[in-house]
Amino acid sequence: MKALIDELIEVTGESYVSTDSAVLVGYCTDWTGHRGGLALAVVRPADAREVAAVLSICVNHEVAVIPQGGNTGLVLGAVPDLHASTPVIIISMVRLNTIGSVDELSGQVTAGAGATLADVQRAARAVGWEYAVDIAARDSATIGGTVATNAGGIHVIAYGMTRAQVTGIEAALPLTSPTLIDHLGGLAKDNTGYDLASALTGSEGTLAIITAVRVKLHRPMDRTSLALIGTDSYDTALRLISSAVRPGIRVRAAELMDRFGLEITLGLIGQMSPLSQEHELVLLLEIADGGDASGFVADELSERDTVIAVDAANQEQLWSLRERHTEAYSAFCIQRGLAAPHKLDVSIPLSRLADCAQLLNDRVRAHPGVVVFGMFGHAGDGNLHVQVCGPAANDESVAELILHTVAECGGSVSAEHGIGRLKAKWLPLSRSPHEIAVMRAIKAAWDPNGVMNPGVLFSE
Ligand code: FAD
Ligand code: LAC
Ligand code: ZN
Repeated sequence: MKALIDELIEVTGESYVSTDSAVLVGYCTDWTGHRGGLALAVVRPADAREVAAVLSICVNHEVAVIPQGGNTGLVLGAVPDLHASTPVIIISMVRLNTIGSVDELSGQVTAGAGATLADVQRAARAVGWEYAVDIAARDSATIGGTVATNAGGIHVIAYGMTRAQVTGIEAALPLTSPTLIDHLGGLAKDNTGYDLASALTGSEGTLAIITAVRVKLHRPMDRTSLALIGTDSYDTALRLISSAVRPGIRVRAAELMDRFGLEITLGLIGQMSPLSQEHELVLLLEIADGGDASGFVADELSERDTVIAVDAANQEQLWSLRERHTEAYSAFCIQRGLAAPHKLDVSIPLSRLADCAQLLNDRVRAHPGVVVFGMFGHAGDGNLHVQVCGPAANDESVAELILHTVAECGGSVSAEHGIGRLKAKWLPLSRSPHEIAVMRAIKAAWDPNGVMNPGVLFSE
């Protein structure tokens, strides 16, 4: 152990290797407050060369590695397993936060893996571009973490997931000598075999450590109208979303909240509902229509209980109702002495969303020990975030029920948060034995010594 720590210090300097348990606890506890096992140390390299050197030292000492970005992940992928006996080093990427200048010709930018999503968005916006991926954790989540999880978020309906934005990658390989692969050219056309950037996107730190990424930017959309709309059912909400798609008009976001989630989020923020009545479901719909609230808004929403944001500040207020949902559930349950919520991110085919939501509602409410149940999410993508409080944190029965129900509906056990350690045992609900065998073979090819984030994706 001492030899390992000394070698790590030799690479990064003493200030960037910590074995102090008071410091380690922060890195070993996730955003929800779940406390993982303690790592041997956290190392914070300065650049890609140091990451590669640190990683090869860990390989040579046969110590497992957890790459960590902003530690906002919601599936226990960035914190050590509470029950694992193998020693682990956390490699924090937050010092690799350089952002290059935007290439005006290609509309691309290269950023260090540790740059926050918000900083990448700001850098793009400053020169008239937009980075399409957006999530509420933008101020802490890193661009490397969002690529490693193939993050989704609120603009998938318009631009696709993170994978659709990645045009190049640089990564440190887990080999006995420091090794970097660099494919950051960002060529629009590059059919030279397997797409390694795409393979690392969504790999959740199980294959290599992403040190930099090159991403595609977009010119900002036309001005938008943002409407908060009271609805009575999932089918009505989906019909409204599809009727908003018209020539020259794009849907930028389509988010759903149920009655309970809206109520507790309003309570958290200390606001009254902007709608005049209570509704089983509320749709937050943003459309790029020039911001004049005509067309779809006039045709479809005039008879509904609807609030249209009047300016940018009002848009931000309406957005915070949706963005603070996950926080509101955590606060609500913990304040009532319940365990932190079980948060299950799933996706369901749109054609079955209404039926499946009803099935989840009926089954979960009838499950022993359930006190709080609610759902919100990215409606246009069929992506629901199911929230349940009551059962103890280590009680897997409610996750089992939800994920089996989703599989029965033809959905996926993870829409956008990934598998992490939390859902590894349920991967076979969404992937066949042949697919899992190929995935394991891919892992063995990238990570021949098996040091990269053991327990994530595949149960050990
Ligand atoms: P971490 O949490 O640090 O790590 C996540 C995973 O990626 C781990 O497995 C880790 O090992 C790996 N990893 C991190 N960096 C690297 C790297 N450089 N190289 C290799 N592997 C790496 N997610 C969504 O998809 N959509 C949302 O709308 C969304 N909203 C959220 C809102 C809130 C309030 C919160 C707390 C989370 C939300 N998330 C959402 C989940 C989370 O923010 C994303 O998964 C995000 O992409 C994680 O980024 P991070 O830098 O925090 O990664
Ligand atoms: C959201 C996170 C939880 O959409 O993914 O708020
Ligand atoms: Zn989400």
